Amino acid sequence: MSTATPTTPVSPIPVRSPLTSALSGATAVLIGGSSGIGLAAGVLLRSIGARVVLVGRDPDRLEAAVSRVRSAGPAEAPEDAVLAVAGDGGDERTLAAAFDTAGQVDHVLVTAGGLTGVGPLTELSADDIRAAVDSRLGAAFTTARMAASRLPAGGSLTFSSGILVVRPAPGMTAPLSVAGAVETLTRALAVELAPARLRVNAVRFGRIDTPLLRSLPGLDSDDAVAAAGSAVPLGRFGTAEEAAASALFLMANTYVTGQIITVDGGETLT
Ligand SMILES: NC(=O)c1ccc[n+]([C@@H]2O[C@H](COP(=O)([O-])OP(=O)(O)OC[C@H]3O[C@@H](n4cnc5c(N)ncnc54)[C@H](OP(=O)(O)O)[C@@H]3O)[C@@H](O)[C@H]2O)c1
Repeated sequence: MSTATPTTPVSPIPVRSPLTSALSGATAVLIGGSSGIGLAAGVLLRSIGARVVLVGRDPDRLEAAVSRVRSAGPAEAPEDAVLAVAGDGGDERTLAAAFDTAGQVDHVLVTAGGLTGVGPLTELSADDIRAAVDSRLGAAFTTARMAASRLPAGGSLTFSSGILVVRPAPGMTAPLSVAGAVETLTRALAVELAPARLRVNAVRFGRIDTPLLRSLPGLDSDDAVAAAGSAVPLGRFGTAEEAAASALFLMANTYVTGQIITVDGGETLT
Protein backbone atom coordinates (compact mmCIF):
# COMPACT_ATOMS: atom_id res chain seq x y z
CA MET A 1 0.00 0.00 0.00
CA SER A 2 1.41 3.39 -0.96
CA THR A 3 1.87 5.91 1.85
CA ALA A 4 2.90 8.74 -0.47
CA THR A 5 1.17 12.03 0.11
CA PRO A 6 -1.27 12.56 -2.74
CA THR A 7 -0.26 15.48 -4.90
CA THR A 8 -3.33 15.49 -7.10
CA PRO A 9 -6.21 17.73 -6.04
CA VAL A 10 -9.15 16.08 -4.34
CA SER A 11 -11.58 17.80 -6.69
CA PRO A 12 -11.70 17.13 -10.40
CA ILE A 13 -11.05 20.01 -12.75
CA PRO A 14 -14.32 20.72 -14.50
CA VAL A 15 -14.09 21.83 -18.09
CA ARG A 16 -17.25 22.78 -19.88
CA SER A 17 -18.19 25.23 -22.58
CA PRO A 18 -17.30 28.75 -21.47
CA LEU A 19 -20.25 30.16 -23.42
CA THR A 20 -22.98 31.59 -21.25
CA SER A 21 -25.44 29.24 -22.98
CA ALA A 22 -23.74 26.46 -20.98
CA LEU A 23 -25.34 27.95 -17.85
CA SER A 24 -28.60 26.36 -19.00
CA GLY A 25 -29.67 23.96 -16.25
CA ALA A 26 -27.34 25.53 -13.68
CA THR A 27 -28.71 27.11 -10.51
CA ALA A 28 -27.68 30.59 -9.40
CA VAL A 29 -28.41 32.33 -6.12
CA LEU A 30 -28.68 36.07 -6.75
CA ILE A 31 -28.25 38.01 -3.52
CA GLY A 32 -29.76 41.37 -4.45
CA GLY A 33 -31.80 39.83 -7.24
CA SER A 34 -34.95 41.90 -6.75
CA SER A 35 -33.71 45.08 -8.46
CA GLY A 36 -31.20 46.59 -10.86
CA ILE A 37 -28.20 44.50 -11.90
CA GLY A 38 -29.19 41.43 -9.87
CA LEU A 39 -32.68 41.40 -11.34
CA ALA A 40 -31.25 41.80 -14.85
CA ALA A 41 -28.94 38.86 -14.15
CA GLY A 42 -31.97 36.81 -13.14
CA VAL A 43 -33.77 37.67 -16.38
CA LEU A 44 -30.72 36.82 -18.50
CA LEU A 45 -30.07 33.56 -16.65
CA ARG A 46 -33.67 32.46 -16.87
CA SER A 47 -33.81 33.34 -20.57
CA ILE A 48 -31.00 30.84 -21.22
CA GLY A 49 -32.58 28.10 -19.09
CA ALA A 50 -30.88 28.52 -15.72
CA ARG A 51 -32.72 28.18 -12.40
CA VAL A 52 -32.50 31.19 -10.13
CA VAL A 53 -33.07 31.94 -6.46
CA LEU A 54 -33.58 35.63 -5.75
CA VAL A 55 -32.68 37.09 -2.36
CA GLY A 56 -33.73 40.56 -1.19
CA ARG A 57 -35.15 42.17 1.92
CA ASP A 58 -38.40 43.72 0.67
CA PRO A 59 -40.93 40.89 0.08
CA ASP A 60 -43.11 42.95 -2.31
CA ARG A 61 -40.15 43.91 -4.46
CA LEU A 62 -39.07 40.28 -4.41
CA GLU A 63 -42.48 39.03 -5.50
CA ALA A 64 -42.53 41.46 -8.44
CA ALA A 65 -39.02 40.35 -9.39
CA VAL A 66 -40.03 36.66 -9.35
CA SER A 67 -42.84 37.42 -11.85
CA ARG A 68 -40.45 39.40 -14.05
CA VAL A 69 -37.79 36.67 -14.05
CA ARG A 70 -40.34 33.89 -14.53
CA SER A 71 -41.68 35.67 -17.63
CA ALA A 72 -38.19 35.56 -19.16
CA GLY A 73 -38.32 31.75 -19.41
CA PRO A 74 -40.72 29.31 -21.05
CA ALA A 75 -44.32 29.47 -19.80
CA GLU A 76 -44.38 25.74 -19.02
CA ALA A 77 -41.33 25.94 -16.72
CA PRO A 78 -41.56 24.15 -13.35
CA GLU A 79 -42.42 26.22 -10.27
CA ASP A 80 -38.92 25.81 -8.88
CA ALA A 81 -37.29 27.43 -11.91
CA VAL A 82 -37.56 30.75 -10.08
CA LEU A 83 -37.52 30.83 -6.29
CA ALA A 84 -37.17 33.59 -3.74
CA VAL A 85 -36.02 33.98 -0.17
CA ALA A 86 -36.73 37.23 1.66
CA GLY A 87 -34.12 38.46 4.13
CA ASP A 88 -30.85 40.21 4.66
CA GLY A 89 -28.17 38.80 2.37
CA GLY A 90 -25.58 39.25 5.10
CA ASP A 91 -27.51 37.03 7.47
CA GLU A 92 -26.38 33.42 7.70
CA ARG A 93 -29.93 32.11 8.20
CA THR A 94 -31.17 33.88 5.06
CA LEU A 95 -28.30 32.44 3.05
CA ALA A 96 -28.81 28.96 4.47
CA ALA A 97 -32.48 29.19 3.51
CA ALA A 98 -31.53 30.27 -0.02
CA PHE A 99 -29.13 27.34 -0.44
CA ASP A 100 -31.58 24.89 1.12
CA THR A 101 -34.44 26.16 -1.04
CA ALA A 102 -32.33 25.80 -4.16
CA GLY A 103 -31.01 22.31 -3.50
CA GLN A 104 -27.87 22.23 -5.62
CA VAL A 105 -26.36 25.70 -6.20
CA ASP A 106 -23.71 26.25 -8.87
CA HIS A 107 -23.17 29.99 -8.84
CA VAL A 108 -23.64 32.87 -6.41
CA LEU A 109 -23.81 36.52 -7.44
CA VAL A 110 -23.82 39.28 -4.82
CA THR A 111 -25.26 42.61 -5.93
CA ALA A 112 -26.82 43.48 -2.56
CA GLY A 113 -25.50 46.51 -0.76
CA GLY A 114 -26.00 50.21 -1.16
CA LEU A 115 -23.88 53.03 0.20
CA THR A 116 -23.53 52.73 3.97
CA GLY A 117 -21.36 55.20 5.91
CA VAL A 118 -21.42 58.11 3.46
CA GLY A 119 -20.06 61.37 4.94
CA PRO A 120 -16.85 63.17 5.83
CA LEU A 121 -14.58 61.04 7.99
CA THR A 122 -14.66 63.46 10.93
CA GLU A 123 -18.46 63.28 11.00
CA LEU A 124 -18.63 59.49 11.03
CA SER A 125 -19.08 57.68 14.31
CA ALA A 126 -17.45 54.37 15.07
CA ASP A 127 -20.90 52.83 14.64
CA ASP A 128 -21.25 54.36 11.14
CA ILE A 129 -17.95 52.82 10.11
CA ARG A 130 -18.82 49.49 11.68
CA ALA A 131 -22.13 49.51 9.80
CA ALA A 132 -20.31 50.12 6.50
CA VAL A 133 -17.95 47.24 7.19
CA ASP A 134 -20.72 44.88 8.32
CA SER A 135 -23.07 45.68 5.46
CA ARG A 136 -20.66 44.87 2.67
CA LEU A 137 -17.46 43.20 3.89
CA GLY A 138 -19.11 41.24 6.69
CA ALA A 139 -21.84 40.13 4.30
CA ALA A 140 -19.24 39.13 1.70
CA PHE A 141 -17.40 36.98 4.25
CA THR A 142 -20.65 35.33 5.34
CA THR A 143 -21.57 34.59 1.74
CA ALA A 144 -18.09 33.28 1.00
CA ARG A 145 -18.12 30.94 4.02
CA MET A 146 -21.48 29.60 2.96
CA ALA A 147 -20.51 29.25 -0.70
CA ALA A 148 -17.15 27.63 0.08
CA SER A 149 -18.81 24.81 1.98
CA ARG A 150 -21.75 24.31 -0.36
CA LEU A 151 -20.74 24.98 -3.95
CA PRO A 152 -19.61 22.01 -6.03
CA ALA A 153 -16.34 21.93 -7.97
CA GLY A 154 -16.82 24.20 -10.97
CA GLY A 155 -18.96 26.62 -8.97
CA SER A 156 -18.37 30.36 -8.82
CA LEU A 157 -18.87 33.33 -6.55
CA THR A 158 -19.07 36.85 -7.98
CA PHE A 159 -18.99 40.05 -5.94
CA SER A 160 -19.80 43.65 -6.89
CA SER A 161 -17.62 46.71 -6.60
CA GLY A 162 -17.59 50.15 -8.18
CA ILE A 163 -15.20 52.41 -10.03
CA LEU A 164 -15.11 54.92 -7.17
CA VAL A 165 -12.68 52.46 -5.57
CA VAL A 166 -10.07 53.69 -8.05
CA ARG A 167 -11.50 57.22 -8.39
CA PRO A 168 -12.33 58.18 -4.81
CA ALA A 169 -14.66 61.05 -4.03
CA PRO A 170 -14.84 63.07 -0.79
CA GLY A 171 -17.27 61.76 1.77
CA MET A 172 -17.00 58.22 0.46
CA THR A 173 -14.11 56.95 2.60
CA ALA A 174 -16.05 54.28 4.46
CA PRO A 175 -18.04 52.70 1.58
CA LEU A 176 -15.06 52.83 -0.78
CA SER A 177 -12.61 51.32 1.72
CA VAL A 178 -15.04 48.49 2.27
CA ALA A 179 -15.64 47.93 -1.46
CA GLY A 180 -11.86 47.88 -1.95
CA ALA A 181 -11.60 45.25 0.76
CA VAL A 182 -14.17 43.13 -1.09
CA GLU A 183 -11.92 43.29 -4.15
CA THR A 184 -8.98 42.09 -2.04
CA LEU A 185 -11.18 39.37 -0.54
CA THR A 186 -12.03 38.28 -4.08
CA ARG A 187 -8.39 37.77 -5.01
CA ALA A 188 -7.48 36.09 -1.72
CA LEU A 189 -10.42 33.69 -1.91
CA ALA A 190 -9.66 32.85 -5.53
CA VAL A 191 -6.32 31.44 -4.39
CA GLU A 192 -7.70 29.77 -1.28
CA LEU A 193 -10.64 28.12 -3.00
CA ALA A 194 -8.92 27.15 -6.25
CA PRO A 195 -7.98 23.67 -4.92
CA ALA A 196 -11.71 23.04 -4.44
CA ARG A 197 -12.14 24.22 -8.06
CA LEU A 198 -14.26 27.16 -7.01
CA ARG A 199 -13.74 30.47 -8.79
CA VAL A 200 -14.14 33.90 -7.21
CA ASN A 201 -14.39 37.13 -9.20
CA ALA A 202 -15.85 40.61 -8.94
CA VAL A 203 -17.29 43.20 -11.28
CA ARG A 204 -16.30 46.83 -10.77
CA PHE A 205 -19.29 48.72 -12.11
CA GLY A 206 -19.26 52.20 -13.56
CA ARG A 207 -22.51 54.13 -13.48
CA ILE A 208 -25.31 51.76 -14.36
CA ASP A 209 -28.90 52.95 -14.87
CA THR A 210 -30.70 51.17 -12.04
CA PRO A 211 -33.06 52.22 -9.23
CA LEU A 212 -29.95 52.73 -7.06
CA LEU A 213 -28.44 55.22 -9.53
CA ARG A 214 -31.78 57.00 -9.96
CA SER A 215 -32.06 57.42 -6.20
CA LEU A 216 -29.00 59.71 -6.27
CA PRO A 217 -29.54 63.49 -6.20
CA GLY A 218 -30.25 64.97 -9.64
CA LEU A 219 -30.66 61.62 -11.41
CA ASP A 220 -34.38 61.01 -11.03
CA SER A 221 -35.48 61.56 -14.65
CA ASP A 222 -34.57 60.15 -18.08
CA ASP A 223 -33.31 63.57 -19.21
CA ALA A 224 -31.08 63.98 -16.17
CA VAL A 225 -29.67 60.47 -16.59
CA ALA A 226 -29.02 61.07 -20.32
CA ALA A 227 -27.35 64.43 -19.65
CA ALA A 228 -25.10 63.08 -16.90
CA GLY A 229 -24.29 59.98 -18.95
CA SER A 230 -23.13 62.01 -21.95
CA ALA A 231 -19.85 62.74 -20.12
CA VAL A 232 -18.91 59.02 -20.16
CA PRO A 233 -16.64 58.14 -23.13
CA LEU A 234 -19.34 55.86 -24.60
CA GLY A 235 -21.85 58.69 -24.19
CA ARG A 236 -24.26 57.17 -21.68
CA PHE A 237 -24.56 55.21 -18.49
CA GLY A 238 -24.67 51.42 -18.75
CA THR A 239 -27.83 49.35 -18.73
CA ALA A 240 -28.53 46.81 -16.00
CA GLU A 241 -28.41 44.10 -18.70
CA GLU A 242 -24.92 45.16 -19.83
CA ALA A 243 -23.75 45.07 -16.24
CA ALA A 244 -25.40 41.72 -15.54
CA ALA A 245 -23.95 40.14 -18.69
CA SER A 246 -20.48 40.57 -17.21
CA ALA A 247 -21.54 38.48 -14.21
CA LEU A 248 -22.83 35.74 -16.52
CA PHE A 249 -19.47 35.75 -18.31
CA LEU A 250 -17.70 35.21 -14.99
CA MET A 251 -20.07 32.39 -14.01
CA ALA A 252 -19.62 30.66 -17.34
CA ASN A 253 -15.90 30.91 -18.03
CA THR A 254 -14.26 28.06 -16.15
CA TYR A 255 -10.75 29.50 -16.55
CA VAL A 256 -11.31 32.94 -15.01
CA THR A 257 -10.69 33.47 -11.31
CA GLY A 258 -9.44 36.22 -9.03
CA GLN A 259 -10.35 38.91 -11.55
CA ILE A 260 -11.94 42.28 -11.01
CA ILE A 261 -13.45 43.21 -14.36
CA THR A 262 -14.53 46.76 -15.06
CA VAL A 263 -17.77 47.59 -16.87
CA ASP A 264 -17.87 51.38 -17.05
CA GLY A 265 -18.21 52.64 -20.63
CA GLY A 266 -14.60 53.80 -20.44
CA GLU A 267 -15.17 56.16 -17.52
CA THR A 268 -11.98 55.21 -15.65
CA LEU A 269 -9.93 55.98 -18.77
CA THR A 270 -10.70 59.69 -18.54
N1 LIG B 1 -25.83 51.17 -10.28
C1 LIG B 1 -24.61 51.69 -10.24
O1 LIG B 1 -24.34 52.73 -10.89
C2 LIG B 1 -23.52 51.04 -9.43
C3 LIG B 1 -22.22 51.58 -9.51
C4 LIG B 1 -21.22 51.00 -8.77
C5 LIG B 1 -21.47 49.89 -7.97
N2 LIG B 1 -22.75 49.39 -7.92
C6 LIG B 1 -22.98 48.24 -7.04
O2 LIG B 1 -23.65 47.23 -7.77
C7 LIG B 1 -24.52 46.51 -6.90
C8 LIG B 1 -25.93 46.47 -7.50
O3 LIG B 1 -26.40 47.79 -7.64
P1 LIG B 1 -27.80 48.13 -8.31
O4 LIG B 1 -27.61 49.42 -8.98
O5 LIG B 1 -28.31 46.96 -9.06
O6 LIG B 1 -28.69 48.38 -6.98
P2 LIG B 1 -30.27 48.27 -6.73
O7 LIG B 1 -31.04 48.54 -7.96
O8 LIG B 1 -30.50 49.13 -5.53
O9 LIG B 1 -30.47 46.75 -6.31
C9 LIG B 1 -29.91 46.26 -5.13
C10 LIG B 1 -30.59 44.97 -4.77
O10 LIG B 1 -29.97 44.46 -3.60
C11 LIG B 1 -30.98 44.21 -2.61
N3 LIG B 1 -30.34 44.42 -1.32
C12 LIG B 1 -29.76 45.55 -0.86
N4 LIG B 1 -29.26 45.34 0.35
C13 LIG B 1 -29.53 44.06 0.67
C14 LIG B 1 -29.29 43.25 1.79
N5 LIG B 1 -28.65 43.71 2.87
N6 LIG B 1 -29.71 41.97 1.77
C15 LIG B 1 -30.37 41.48 0.70
N7 LIG B 1 -30.64 42.19 -0.39
C16 LIG B 1 -30.22 43.48 -0.40
C17 LIG B 1 -32.09 45.17 -2.94
O11 LIG B 1 -33.36 44.77 -2.46
P3 LIG B 1 -33.88 45.17 -0.99
O12 LIG B 1 -33.52 46.62 -0.79
O13 LIG B 1 -35.34 44.90 -1.02
O14 LIG B 1 -33.14 44.28 -0.05
C18 LIG B 1 -32.06 45.10 -4.46
O15 LIG B 1 -32.68 43.92 -4.90
C19 LIG B 1 -24.46 47.23 -5.54
O16 LIG B 1 -23.55 46.53 -4.72
C20 LIG B 1 -23.92 48.59 -5.88
O17 LIG B 1 -23.21 49.18 -4.81
C21 LIG B 1 -23.77 49.93 -8.64
